Amino acid sequence: MLPADYSVEMVGITKEFGGVHALREVSFRVRPGEIHALVGENGAGKSTLMKILSGAYQKDEGVVRIEGKEVEISNPHSGRQLGIAIIYQEFALVPDLTVAENIYLDHLSSRGGIINKGRLYRQSEELIGGLGFDINPRKMVWQLSVAYQQVVEITKALSEEARILILDEPTAVLAPKEVKSLFEILRRLKEQGVSIVYISHRLEEVFEIADSVTVLKDGQVTGEGKTEQMKPDDVIRMMIGRKLTTMFPERELRIGEEILRVEGLNRGKEVRDVSFSVRAGEVLGIAGLVGSGRTETVRAIFAADKRDSGRIELCGKELQLKSPRESVRSGIGFVPEDRKGQGVILSMSVRENVTMPRLRSVMGWFGFIKKTKEQRITEELIKRLRIKARSTESAVTDLSGGNQQKVALAKWFGTDSSLIILDEPTRGVDVGAKVEIYNLINELAARGLGIIFISSETIEVIGICDRVVVMRQGAISDILDKEQLSEENIMRAAIGRSRSSAVDIRTSG
Ligand SMILES: Nc1ncnc2c1ncn2[C@@H]1O[C@H](COP(=O)(O)OP(=O)(O)OP(=O)(O)O)[C@@H](O)[C@H]1O
Ligand SMILES: [Mg+2]
Repeated sequence: MLPADYSVEMVGITKEFGGVHALREVSFRVRPGEIHALVGENGAGKSTLMKILSGAYQKDEGVVRIEGKEVEISNPHSGRQLGIAIIYQEFALVPDLTVAENIYLDHLSSRGGIINKGRLYRQSEELIGGLGFDINPRKMVWQLSVAYQQVVEITKALSEEARILILDEPTAVLAPKEVKSLFEILRRLKEQGVSIVYISHRLEEVFEIADSVTVLKDGQVTGEGKTEQMKPDDVIRMMIGRKLTTMFPERELRIGEEILRVEGLNRGKEVRDVSFSVRAGEVLGIAGLVGSGRTETVRAIFAADKRDSGRIELCGKELQLKSPRESVRSGIGFVPEDRKGQGVILSMSVRENVTMPRLRSVMGWFGFIKKTKEQRITEELIKRLRIKARSTESAVTDLSGGNQQKVALAKWFGTDSSLIILDEPTRGVDVGAKVEIYNLINELAARGLGIIFISSETIEVIGICDRVVVMRQGAISDILDKEQLSEENIMRAAIGRSRSSAVDIRTSG
C-alpha cells in the first residue's frame, strides 16, 4: 500500500456551540513531515478545530482521516493512540506534581500500580536534556517559570512519540532564545516525518518556520498555500478581511505632570533599587528579557507583592498600599501577565468582569448597580475591542484565549484610574485587535493617564512607547528616550554588553 498523501485530513468540519457556528465546513490537510501554520483572528476557530483533532471536542459534521484512514476520535485518549499530541494554549499541567510526574501523567494513570520513581526521573531528565534544556525533573511544576512550564508541556507531548504534534501558541511565553530552541526541535521532528500544526499570532514566526499555512476567519477557511508563495500582507488580508495600513497609530504627545514616582524600590533579588517616573500622557515601556524583573517590579508597585523598601508616589502623594484592592481604590489599574490566574474571573460573564473595577461609577444614586448602564458600557467595549462574544452575559470561560485577554484589558478602560499598568497586554491577541489596543492606549494617554507598558515584543515597544526603561537582572540597565529607541539599543541594554551566552529564565518576569 502506498503511504497516504496526508497525515491529517479534516473535511467539511462543522461545530456549533449553542447556535453559534465556531466552524463551518472547514477542510484542513497536513502532509507528513510538514510544519503547517494555522492562523486567524481571535475566535476564528483555530483552537476548536485542533481540539476536535485531538479528541477534546466532538465535531457535529465532517470526516477526519489520519494517514488516509477514516477515524472517530471520541476522546483525548483515542487521539493519543492515533499518535496525536496537543500542547494547549492554556496550560494543562498539574501544578502540585513534579515535572517528571507531569510528563508521564497519562502513562501513570492508564497503567496504575507501582511505578519506579528512579526510572521516571532518569527518563525525564534524558528527555528534557535531549531537547537541550536543563530542568530538574524533581521540581514541582508550580515552582517553574511559565517558560519552563511550556518546556515541560512540549517534553510531555514528545514523550508520547507523537506522529502529529499540535502547538497552540507555543511561543507566547517564551524568550527569543527559547523560541530558537523550540524551532530547532520542530525542525528535527519534521525530519523524522512528524507532522506539526503550528498556531501563532506572530506572523514572522509563521513565515520562518512553516511550510504551509491555512487561514481561518469566522469559522471558515479563507486561504491556504505554501508560505514561500505568500506574503505576510496577503495572510493578514485573509485573516481580517481588509488591509492593515498602520500598525502603530500616531499620537499627539502632550506630556503633563508626574503621575507616578518610584524611588529605590526593592524586593528580594528580583527588584533591585528601581527608580523611575511616569508622567501624564506618557506611555512608559518596560523592556527586558523574561526574568529580568519587569513583572516583579510592577507587582510591587501595585502591592500584589510586598516590597522590601522603596518610596512610591502617585500624583505627588506618597502611597502606603497594602493590597491590590487599595491600589485600585487609589487609582491604579493593572492588567496582569497571567490573565487566567489574575486577569479575569472565568466563571463570570463578560459584563461582570468588565464592570468590576468601575463599580463606583455605575452605582446609581441609591447604591444599586444599574444593569442597563453596565450593559451599555460592556457592549461598547465589546464593539471597540472586537471581543467575540455572543452577548454581554456570555461566560468568559467560553471565549477564545485572545478574547479573554481583551476582556482583561477592557476592565480598565473608562475607569477613573490615573495610572494603568499593562503587562504583556497583546500576548495572544490577533493583529487587528492589537491595533485596536494601541488605539485605546493612545486614547488613555491623550486623556492624561500615565501608562506603563511591558512587552517582550521589541517592535511593539518601539512603536508605542514614549520612553523605555530596560531592565536586566532585577535592576534598571538603561532608560531610553524616544529618539534612542531601536531594537539594537533595547537588546544591548537587556543583555548587557559583555554578556553573550546563556539567557537566564529561571523566574518569569
Ligand atoms: N466551550 C465553548 N463554549 C462556547 N463557545 C465556545 C467554546 N469554545 C469555543 N467557543 C467559541 O468558538 C469560537 C472559536 O473559538 P476558538 O477558541 O476556536 O478561537 P481561536 O481561533 O482559537 O481564537 P484565539 O486566537 O483567541 O485563541 C469563539 O467564538 C468561541 O467563543
Ligand atoms: Mg485559541
